[in-house]
Amino acid sequence: MKLLVCGGAGFIGSTFVRQRLLEHGDEVTVLDKLTYAGRTENFHDFAEHPSFRFLRGAIEDAGDVAGAIDASAPEAVVNFAAETHVDRSIAEPDAFVKTHALGTYVLLEAARTARQRPRYVQVSTDEVYGSIESGSFTEDSPLRPSSPYSATKTGADLLVQSYFHTYELPATICRGSNNYGPCQYPEKLIPLMILNALHGDSLPVYGDGMQVRNWIHASDFARAIGHVLEHGVAGEVYNAGGPDEEANIDVVRRIVAATGASESQIEHVRDRPGHDRRYSLSSAKVRALGWEPRVRFAQGLEQTVAWYRDNAWWWEPIRSGEYRAYYQRQYGRALG
Ligand code: NAD
Ligand code: DAU
Repeated sequence: MKLLVCGGAGFIGSTFVRQRLLEHGDEVTVLDKLTYAGRTENFHDFAEHPSFRFLRGAIEDAGDVAGAIDASAPEAVVNFAAETHVDRSIAEPDAFVKTHALGTYVLLEAARTARQRPRYVQVSTDEVYGSIESGSFTEDSPLRPSSPYSATKTGADLLVQSYFHTYELPATICRGSNNYGPCQYPEKLIPLMILNALHGDSLPVYGDGMQVRNWIHASDFARAIGHVLEHGVAGEVYNAGGPDEEANIDVVRRIVAATGASESQIEHVRDRPGHDRRYSLSSAKVRALGWEPRVRFAQGLEQTVAWYRDNAWWWEPIRSGEYRAYYQRQYGRALG
């Protein structure tokens, strides 16, 4: 299949591209703006593949998108492109509105008016449903986003659904729970805690650390998106949640044990404003299509710790660069 993958230089997008190129024999064009989170390093093992092409450009730029559609003549567009960090959306929401609202609109218009209409898959998040005390969200649960990140992702989902209802664009949406694995930017809980633990830095747990997340390995989420692309019904939404839920403080304790760090490095810091307490997804609908997660959290986390330990070439340029200033702003202290 010929694919146009937007945001394919990021953590999950590059995992998806790798699977499609190497396991499915697809022809893949990536369109990516290369924000701080987009990295050509993530193409390290397939950059020279004859069926792979990279174009630098933004989804909110109609010229960039038209160029990518012309160059790739895609049978499907898969949109991962997003600003993805909740804390950054609280500090500076602008880019979130631009990429999620305007960017998704520009991409949908290009798909709708293309000579050969491609299928369209929007990659979305469990955060559109808000927080849930007990039980799990289904695709029919009300949308109650709580941060500028999740509110703009929700807006993008609604726009995608409107293009199906109004223009019959064959679009699907796949909503994932919290991802982890290799190549995740170290602003997110798991890679941040692993690198801080390995460096002897403090481990900043927001509030009481009893917030619960539903962890899914990025390879499992990427396969779920591929499954929805191949087997999903146009107009439908599919949740893809991980097999395990865990409170943040327990995740951090596992990382302390796996890295040989000390529990005395754990520090409870000011809570995130509007912090969602618990996410949990029911994935019965995508499971009925034949997908299921393969990686349990305990094993996947051990492998992820080992990957960061063994791949300093990947994170060293981040940790020694602009990220240090971000960290200082966000946590009010310098990295060691
Ligand atoms: P990421 O931050 O690692 O990567 C995002 C990618 O999008 C980067 O390569 C970036 O350069 C690119 N990008 C950003 N704005 C762009 C724009 N305007 N035009 C073109 N490219 C742009 O993100 P990720 O964690 O890989 O998330 C990918 C998608 O999956 C997002 O849509 C996110 O909302 C969704 N998601 C993420 C998680 C998670 O836990 N990380 C969970 C569920 C859903
Ligand atoms: O649920 C899916 C979402 O998961 C995705 O849509 C988002 O793109 C992704 O960033 C992620 O959002 P979270 O806010 O859940 O992830 P984050 O890694 O930022 O935080 C996970 C939990 O850990 C959350 O409860 C906040 C807490 N946390 C996070 C950081 C960075 C801390 O306690 N300390 C920290 O330093």
